[in-house]
Amino acid sequence: MDPARVAALRDDLAAAAFHVETLTALWGAEADAALRRGNRVQASRALGGSSSPAAVLARLFVLGHEVRDAELDRALPSVGVSGARELGLVNLEGARVQPRADLRPYSFVDAEGAGEWWIASDPGELVTGGALPVDHVLGVGGASATLAGLQFSDLVDRALDLGTGCGIQALHARRFARTVVATDISERALRYAQLNALLNGIDGIEFRHGDLFEPVEGERFDRIVSNPPFVITPRTEGVPAYEYRDGGREGDALVAAVVAGVARHLAPGGTAQLLGNWEYRADEDGLARAGAWAREAGLEHWIVERERLDPALYAETWIRDGGTRPGTPEFERMCGLWLDDFARRGVLGVGFGYLVLRRPVGEPVLQRAERQSAPLDESTGSGAHLQAALAAIDIVAPLDDDALLAMRMQVAGDVTEERSHWPGDADPSVIVLRQGGGLRRELRVDSALAAIIGACDGELSLGVIIQAVADLLDADPLALRAAVVPEVRELVADGMLAPRV
Ligand SMILES: C[S@@+](CC[C@H](N)C(=O)[O-])C[C@H]1O[C@@H](n2cnc3c(N)ncnc32)[C@H](O)[C@@H]1O
Repeated sequence: MDPARVAALRDDLAAAAFHVETLTALWGAEADAALRRGNRVQASRALGGSSSPAAVLARLFVLGHEVRDAELDRALPSVGVSGARELGLVNLEGARVQPRADLRPYSFVDAEGAGEWWIASDPGELVTGGALPVDHVLGVGGASATLAGLQFSDLVDRALDLGTGCGIQALHARRFARTVVATDISERALRYAQLNALLNGIDGIEFRHGDLFEPVEGERFDRIVSNPPFVITPRTEGVPAYEYRDGGREGDALVAAVVAGVARHLAPGGTAQLLGNWEYRADEDGLARAGAWAREAGLEHWIVERERLDPALYAETWIRDGGTRPGTPEFERMCGLWLDDFARRGVLGVGFGYLVLRRPVGEPVLQRAERQSAPLDESTGSGAHLQAALAAIDIVAPLDDDALLAMRMQVAGDVTEERSHWPGDADPSVIVLRQGGGLRRELRVDSALAAIIGACDGELSLGVIIQAVADLLDADPLALRAAVVPEVRELVADGMLAPRV
């Protein structure tokens, strides 16, 4: 790949103002939302025959329509149609230019502030108009954005992005790591990832080809991130094995293998953030299953399940994702194979979520598995939340109860309290604490715990507050203390109470 040509492309895209904001201004928020649902009609109509450089680039690279060679030459004056062809981004047929790649602006906000990149990947279903080829290289989807938002933001020396695809996690990881190794089994994916790093002027990422951890054998990393090919797929003739989502193992064994590999490659104290699926079997809870992978690998873990799908819904989701429409004979054939595969292992459901893993330095203190009750707001920065909660857990976990009672606690700024009363009653029948950010937890508490949490303003020690509330409610202080201390530990881990040090 010619770096000078990629630099020319970067200059052209910048000069065309090919940015998220420009595109939304061109076609409007409704068309944006329709595009996310896979419908390009509104956006195409809004662009009409506009020949502005941003409109031409959007028509070609985002909406997947043909443009004329002269239009593209004007939109990319330095790189031109010939340069775009050399980079593998377009095909030329006579004067008609067709997209060979999807190329679009991508914006984000992290601990370093706001940023924007251009990301190239294979054209999606919208352009192919049918089932995807098995070597499809994924662009930035919902799962990619979830993992990007989960990444921790303390500066480390070495990070690994396993299964880098178009390179999106590696680019994010590089913002908080001095060097990054990005691996993939797909040579095409690695070419896109390299192009994207170059296009966005990001150095310090080494790209390596190979299966899972094989390209980093014997190496250790301070951080590992991975959106692995975790989709459970029947290992049956006639079911497409998409490289971008299918790691070629039976059931959820790929995720188990990634967890075991993480344990071999994390430096002591290092953390990993992964996405994954886990099976619920007739005789085994899915979250417990995922927790066991981590425990057996000697890793501390915090596993958050975002959703659980029944076998039919899981099969439908992933068959559709490959571009096969419901109601077709092919859809029904594949759905049957998926259900047979699940039935063979007694699978009753599949959990999806994320795993934060850590290689303990001393005694392991983190073993959490939870189901997320509210939908995650990606903008709340789940990574920052988990990272802060992890730091707080590290402070309180080694403390015995007396030491914890001597600490001062502060209720987090995003926690609100909601009280419901039976009509006419002075006392509330239900008190709920709500977390505005992070995992947006809801917690039902009694009036004593509500009073204690409400008094945690960082001034008085927890023990003093509990004593005062016991006096107020005429309760036994020892019993109240015994009941409240474990709840406070949970609230700290939930990020709803912060220890003042
Ligand atoms: C779900 S995609 C994630 C892409 C990207 N990291 C993201 O977050 O959008 C999984 C990636 O893993 C790669 N992959 C599949 N099997 C692999 C294997 N055995 N070893 C390494 N990478 C693999 C695929 O080629 C694909 O790029």
